[in-house]
Formats: sequence, C-alpha cells, structure tokens
Amino acid sequence: MGKTLTYKILEKHLVDGELKQGNAIGIRIDQTLTQDATGTTAFLLFESMGIGRVKTDMSISYIDHNMAQFGPENHNDHLYLQTVATKSGAYHSRAGNGICHQVHLERFGKPGATLLGSDSHTPTGGGIGMLAMGAGGMDVAVAMGGGPFYITAPKVIGVKLTGRLNDWVASKDVILKLLSILSTKGNVGCVVEYFGPGVETLTVPQRATITNMGAELGVTTSVFPSDDNTKAFLAAQEREADFQPLTADADAEYDRVIEIDLSQVEPMAACPSSPDNTCTIADLAGGEVGQVLVGSCTNSSYADLMMAAKVLKGRQIDPMIEFGVAPGSRQVLNMLAENGALSDLITAGARILETGCGPCIGQGFSPANDVVSVRTFNRNFAGRTGTKGDQSYLVSPETAVACALTGKFTDPRSLDIEYPDVDMPEHFDIDDSMIVPPLSEEEAKIAEVLRGPTIVVPESPKQLPDTLNGQVVLKCGDKITTDHIMPAGVFLKYRSNVPEYSKYVFNCFNEEGEKTFAQKSLELKAKDVGSVIVGGQSYGQGSSREHAALCPMYLGVRAVLAKSIERIHKANLINFAIVPIVFADEADYDKVAESDELVIENLRDAVKDKDTVEIVDKTSGTKFNGKLELSQRDRDILLAGGLLSYTKNA
Ligand code: F3S
Repeated sequence: MGKTLTYKILEKHLVDGELKQGNAIGIRIDQTLTQDATGTTAFLLFESMGIGRVKTDMSISYIDHNMAQFGPENHNDHLYLQTVATKSGAYHSRAGNGICHQVHLERFGKPGATLLGSDSHTPTGGGIGMLAMGAGGMDVAVAMGGGPFYITAPKVIGVKLTGRLNDWVASKDVILKLLSILSTKGNVGCVVEYFGPGVETLTVPQRATITNMGAELGVTTSVFPSDDNTKAFLAAQEREADFQPLTADADAEYDRVIEIDLSQVEPMAACPSSPDNTCTIADLAGGEVGQVLVGSCTNSSYADLMMAAKVLKGRQIDPMIEFGVAPGSRQVLNMLAENGALSDLITAGARILETGCGPCIGQGFSPANDVVSVRTFNRNFAGRTGTKGDQSYLVSPETAVACALTGKFTDPRSLDIEYPDVDMPEHFDIDDSMIVPPLSEEEAKIAEVLRGPTIVVPESPKQLPDTLNGQVVLKCGDKITTDHIMPAGVFLKYRSNVPEYSKYVFNCFNEEGEKTFAQKSLELKAKDVGSVIVGGQSYGQGSSREHAALCPMYLGVRAVLAKSIERIHKANLINFAIVPIVFADEADYDKVAESDELVIENLRDAVKDKDTVEIVDKTSGTKFNGKLELSQRDRDILLAGGLLSYTKNA
C-alpha cells in the first residue's frame, strides 16, 4: 500500500514508538515558533529546564499578539523575549515584523520539515508542505531543548481537490466548505491531507489559508504537497534551496476521502459564533453590515491585500462601514506601500493597522453593540471581538471587500466589477532587518536577559493527591473555548504574571457582585480542597492558550471532568498536572451541579494504570465513572507533577 505524505514525513522524524495508526509516537521537531502571548511562559520554562541553547535546526520567537501599550507590561515582554531568545540561540522577529504564521511561511517554512508552534494556527505551515502542529508553550519549550513531541499516529483524511476556483471565490471559501462537511468536532487525532489535480491551481499563500483554518476542524494538522508552486514561492522569497518535491504515493490509502470540486465552491460565511456555522453568502445577501476587517494569519497575504486594493481603487467604502486592514507582514506592507496599493486602500476609506494580530484577538476594533462585523479571520467565538453579544462573521477577502463597498452582505460575484486576478510576485521584497539573529555561544555567555518586574516565574504544579477531595467550582456547557477560560484582549498584557492574569479565569462567567472563579478557587486551595471544572463537549477548543491550564493550575484546579476535551488543551492540562477526565456515560453530566463536593479515591493509583475512576458526588449522593484517556507518557507526566518535573527527571 502506498504512503500518504503525512506518514512519509512522520517516518523521517520518528524517534520513539512504532509508526502505526493509534500508537503514541515521538517525533523530532526541526523548527519551533513561539509568539508573545505564549512565548514568555515558553521561554521561562525553557530557562528553568537549564538546557541553555536551543537544539532545533531553527527556533523563532515572534511578537505579534499584543502590541498595544497602555503600561509597561508589553514592552517588558518584548525586551525579555528578544534578549532571552537570542541568548538561547533562537531568532527573534520584532514587534512590527508581522504575524508569526505569515512571516514563518515567507522566511522560514521548509517542505518536509516538522514545525511545533505555541499557537494553534501553526498548521499554516502545511501550505508549504511542512508537518506543522500547534501545542502548548511547555511542549514547545521541551522541543526547543531537543526533546521529541508526542502525538497519536493519526488517521489521514484525504481531501481530493479537482477543478479550479471561479473568479471572486477564494481558498477561504474552500476551508469554510470543508468546515461545513467535517464541523469543528469529531476530528481529533486526524490529519487532513490535500491531493488531486486541483492542488496545482492554488498558490502557497492560498494553500496556507486552507491549512491555517484547518485548525478549526480540531485536527492535528493539515498538509499540502510540495510542488512547482512551492518552488516558485520559495524562489520568490530567495529560498529556492529549501525546496524539495513531496507528494503522497499515487496509491496512498486514506482513512476517508472527501472530494471538493473547486469550480463548484461558492462564497461562504461562518456565522456567529462558530467557524463551522456556515452558509453561503447568497443566503445572507442584503443583511446589514457595520464593520469589515481584512487581515489575520488567515488572510493577509500579498495577493489578498492586492485584490482588496485593486477592487477599491477609485471607489469609496460605504459611509456607515468601519473598515480596517491589517497586513500580515512588514514585507507585504512595504510592497503595498511601494506599488501604491496602500494609498488606494487609504483613499477608499480603510484604516490601516499595524502588522500583527490586532482585532483578531480583541486588540482594538471591537464592534459597536448590535453591529455586524465581517472579518477575514479564522475564529468568531462569542465575545472574541471584545464586545459582549457580538455578531462576527468569517468570510474571504473578496466577500469582505464587497460588504465594505455596499454596507450589506454581498456576494462578490454580484459586483459590477472585473475580478482583479493578482499573480503571486516573482520576487518579494526581502528585508529581514527586523529579525534578530541568535547570538553566538561566546556572545551569549555575557549577554544579559532583560526581565522587567511584570515578568514573574510561574509556580510549579503540586503533586497529584492520593485521593482527590474536590468541589465543582464551575459547570459549563458545550464548546467552551480557551478564550472563555482565559480571555485575551485587554487582559493579555498580564500573560507574564500568572497570579495577576489568573484573576480573570472564566471572566465571562463571573457575575458582578458575586465571587469570581478565581476567588472561589483560591478559597478552596487554602483549605486544601481541589477545584474541579465540569464541561460539556469539546471543552478547551480554540487557541493553544496554555494559560487556560496554567492559570487554573495556579488557582488550585486539580481535574477537568467533561464530555470531551480538545487535543491541545488536554495536553496542556496534563503538562500542568490537571487530570483530564471524560464522563464514561455522557448522561452523568446531568448528575453533577455547581458547588457539589466530589471525591475520587485512589486517584494517583488510577492515573498509574487504570482507564476509569469512580467519582462520588457527596452532595447528591450519586456515583458514576469517569474515563482516563491517557497514554503511558501522559500518566508519567501527571505522576511526575507536570511536564517540567517530568523533563527534569528524565
Ligand atoms: Fe494572531 Fe489571530 Fe492568527 S490572534 S496568530 S491572527 S488567529
């Protein structure tokens, strides 16, 4: 039987375990990336491992998430990251150089390599033929130290692309179409691999849009072959030497095959408040829109922004629309400035944002109450814009621009404008002057790491108790995201100070005048009672935000009991010695109420080698079983008191 591309790359990187579907395997990581929201913790943990220098082929620290400065916190973080990264042998992409995934694709991505990033959209690198995965900062810190990354050898979903996209239909519509088929649930442990004749009709940035938003499927990653288009992109970035052709065998067998005829794809939208709540733009046509944003790591490539500029050239956006454009990288921003496209956007009424994540993570451009916001981003979870009760729709740049012109949901095909096909440039403007290279070992010996007072070393997890005496501090429903658990936006500036940031855990559920989640948990912690969170389906979906485990750990959360727990978040919980437990019978979810006292006898023993635990609800007088879906390594990490102690003792 022929091999999939996924398994070919895994085979080359296998360092532990047998490469058989469903097995836990350890793979060598060639490259890592961190961004500032997760990077400070990753580097603090890396420092505490005492390894000194990174052992990957290449590690890069990016600043892109939190650049608005209303106090010293963010600049302290930037200085810490620049000095610690370069001293540790990593590159550092400075604030203003661009969004990690776009810059990485442009300047570092390499077909056939493995990339581990402390950001859930790291799979963007799949557009250039990398096996690129998101993980928590602690996993990335271990990979920086040369340790393997552990995954379950995946199922591979093959997506066969045929045909060619019509004018005004974008690769964003392809991934929205796939989300309508696969949804955000039930795809854990899978890799999506693209093949078929339609692949060659897509450029690397178009492919990267698809693999970027593939993260919303909940899969391990997504990957495209590396072909002539990949070679052309690398050549345009003066990196042709990094090219190698890669493809699945012609007789590769996939666990499931989905066929998408690109010529049949229509402009789509993800409606509030989930990326898989999709419909066609035609279904929404005529509805009022109040805000339009083009940018993010999903859709701010040169071609995306040039298309927008060409459509808007000589035209004005609707006067009731607030229109923002955030270029994904300094390279792209410079090119738009030099060829006049930036001026076309400004003249049309666009507000130009700094190259960075910006509004995607609730940093500015929060929409007014009851205003529909149309965004080219990848997530529209409730409240992510920074406005409670927001109505955020995810669309392609083509659709976004059409909406900006008319002030209404508009199928871009209905515009009386010729489609401005934008070719990928044969040569991008290369300027890496805002990427600070690593210091030499000699230089590093005397280099100082700048640590402002807002950078606080996180507390280590406690050992697992033999018996857990716990209390349910919060019972929540399905699809709780890491944004719900640990809000970003204005709170993100506290990310390097866990005691401070922890005050805002589950801020969206904190009622005014009542004790917050943090206050309740800390009171229990003082009495040596473990806090327990009860969740529904897909608990912890969304971003890789490790603080969604780190801060609850600090508050004394010892277990999460849910109907299902998403992959990256589950790994983060384990890394911080919080036990992830899944209801053996989902109906038992109804038996537990907030404030119930729970007892799990012999928890430590169960974590050693059992698949179930008995949970006694002392308040309601009921008992039920929870499943421990743990690999041997997960068990070892939990018993060691988290990944850091596990790594130190290994
Ligand atoms: Fe940044 Fe949003 Fe992407 S926060 S990394 S632009 S998903």
